[in-house]
Amino acid sequence: VPLGDDPLPLFGKHVLITAGPTHEPIDPVRYIANRSSGKQGFAIAAAAAQAGARVTLIAGPVHLPTPPGVERIDVESALEMAAAVDGALPADVAVMVAAVADWRVARSADQKLKKQGDDTVPPLELTENPDILAGLAHGLRRPPLVVGFAAETQDVIRYAQAKRIRKGADWIVANDVSGDVMGGDANTVHIVTADDVISLPEMPKGDVARVLVERIADALAE
Ligand code: CTP
Ligand code: CA
Repeated sequence: VPLGDDPLPLFGKHVLITAGPTHEPIDPVRYIANRSSGKQGFAIAAAAAQAGARVTLIAGPVHLPTPPGVERIDVESALEMAAAVDGALPADVAVMVAAVADWRVARSADQKLKKQGDDTVPPLELTENPDILAGLAHGLRRPPLVVGFAAETQDVIRYAQAKRIRKGADWIVANDVSGDVMGGDANTVHIVTADDVISLPEMPKGDVARVLVERIADALAE
């Protein structure tokens, strides 16, 4: 995918990216998590760095190498991710690709929970995590361009349009995960903006990243 005539269209820009899942502790040895390989977010970080940006990649627990030229901050939980995003501001563009766990355990245990020897199970009370994307998009230090992701299994574009407005994002990259996307190397996405929907054919995650970075560079140049 060509990047136009400027080889470094994001030179001088700070790109903030979240990627991967979050792990929400139940006790020191157990957690609840979302399914996410982190591949798409890492590919966007790599493409942004190749386009000349300063890139801060806030990564949940994944097994991926850090792309060249990217500053990576590893986190575990949604609360840690939210704090790391806050600490990385200001940014020219934020791309929130992370599959953040919507809930955490209200009171995680300091010691490993033990089976009781009868049929009782631990009551796990959940509480909602902060919405990092919405907090950023509605916050005082909002980056000029805020891009969210949305993995959907049905009504992909309609749900993405609603999410874009609800969360205050400029764009939502809607990810059709009805097929075999999770953990795979290809992706089918629709870039949903205020005015239109750009549907890309299925392509490798690296190509999705390059198309998105090119569009981000165009938007920042306007
Ligand atoms: N997101 C976030 N913080 C959260 C939850 C989601 O920053 N606590 C971001 C994701 O990184 C993504 C976007 O919000 O960019 C959409 O996430 P998604 O899970 O699709 O949205 P939800 O509002 O949680 O809706 P759903 O009920 O479909 O999970
Ligand atoms: Ca969610």
